Order: sequence, then C-alpha cells, then structure tokens
Amino acid sequence: MADTTKNNPTGPRHIAFIMDGNGRWAKERGLPREHGHRFGVKAFRAVLDHCATLDIDAVTFYAFSTENWKRPKREVNAILRLMDSYLAECEKKIDDYAFRIVFLGDKAPFEGARRTRMERLEAHTRTRRRILNIALNYGGRDELVHACNLLLASGKNTVTAADIEGALYTKDSPPLDLIVRTGGDLRISNFLLWQAAYAELYFTDILWPDFGPAEVDAAIAEFHQRKRRFGGV
Ligand code: FPP
Repeated sequence: MADTTKNNPTGPRHIAFIMDGNGRWAKERGLPREHGHRFGVKAFRAVLDHCATLDIDAVTFYAFSTENWKRPKREVNAILRLMDSYLAECEKKIDDYAFRIVFLGDKAPFEGARRTRMERLEAHTRTRRRILNIALNYGGRDELVHACNLLLASGKNTVTAADIEGALYTKDSPPLDLIVRTGGDLRISNFLLWQAAYAELYFTDILWPDFGPAEVDAAIAEFHQRKRRFGGV
C-alpha cells in the first residue's frame, strides 16, 4: 500500500464509512447475501488503498455492529471468516502495511486465534502514524457505556468531555470530519455517536460493493463545499 502523497491539503483528516448495501447488491444478482459481503471486501480494499494515496490521517470502517449478531448464523460466520482472511493477509505483509490498525469495539466475544491475531496486529502497528480503525462488534452506545465504566473504575465521580474522549475506542484518532454511508438509508445506525457531533454526513444510494475511489473523491469534493461552523457563525 502506498504511503501518503500529501494531495489532500484541506482535509478531511478522518473519514468513516458505513458500508451498507452488500445484501441488496447480492439479491439483485440472485446471489446469497454472503457473496455481497465478499464483494464488499473488494470495495473495502479499493477504498482503503485509495485513502492511502490521499493525505488522510485516519480512516474508519463499520465492519460489524453490536446488533449484527442478530443476523443468521451463516451470514455472521461468513463476515467473520472474511475478516479472518483479511487479517491473516495483513499479518503476512505487516512490515509494509501503511496503517496502525485499531479495532473499535468490545473484543470479548472474540477468542482463540482470531483474538490473538487482532491483538498482535494492534501491537505490531502501534507506532505507525496513520490509523485504520476497523469497527468490529462496535456500537456507539456501547462505546459510551464502556467509556463511563472505565472512568468510574479509575475513581472519577465527575468527568469532562476530554475525559470521555480519552476513554473512547477512537482516543488516538483525530476528530472525525466526514461520515460516508452507502446504500441509500439516511441514518447513523449507532456509529460513532460522540465523534459524529460535528462530522459532515454524506449519503449515497450506491450499494457498497459498487462504491470505489471515484465515489470517495466525490464525497471529498462535496465535503469541500460544506461550510463548517462548529456551532459558530
Ligand atoms: C451492511 O450491508 C454490511 C455489513 C453489516 C457487513 C460489512 C462487512 C464487510 C464488507 C466485510 C468486512 C470485512 C472486512 C475485511 C472489512 P447489509 O448486509 O446490511 O446490506 P443490505 O442493507 O443490502 O442488506
């Protein structure tokens, strides 16, 4: 993966993607939903590679939510297996990998080889500057509850916004600038609830497997048209 080429001087510094529409993409082709996720990984790779050529400090992907466990077991297993193969591949080329990998979410349900690999990837890439956040068993509400519990356990009984920020899974990422959601739905779906406070939102009807570098550029171009006031005038 190429390293940064400083060709994104006005931001966004941190983009997050809600990769929606894999199931519908497969259905339109008469394929099982799992195939949609397989092509979803292809799109993920293309988008990540493209982001690596831009001067972006952090990129976040919503891969599996705390609610996604409700899906049929076969689909859940298919998504986790896709994740396993991607992570195994990352591990093989870990020295060339451009990003620090951070998993957002509670790792408790992951055990054995999967858990070890997740922790190894985080540890081995810890000193890289740019961040790839993979939200896996992630929910925005769950993240806030987890942060509150961390702060209580540390002995605090009043907290500041900075304390909360420092207890989020995204504590090492720069502020979130842009959320891109594919698949046509106009909602946040429990993603980065705290971090979204002043992020720009970009929705497209394109289904995730059809999303790619040209659409990333379109979202960034739209971002540059927005007037960000952060509550000011
Ligand atoms: C939403 O589409 C997609 C997901 C819940 C899973 C996304 C996961 C991947 C693309 C694979 C993750 C793996 C890596 C390596 C990042 P949907 O199934 O809800 O689509 P629908 O709305 O059309 O049903």
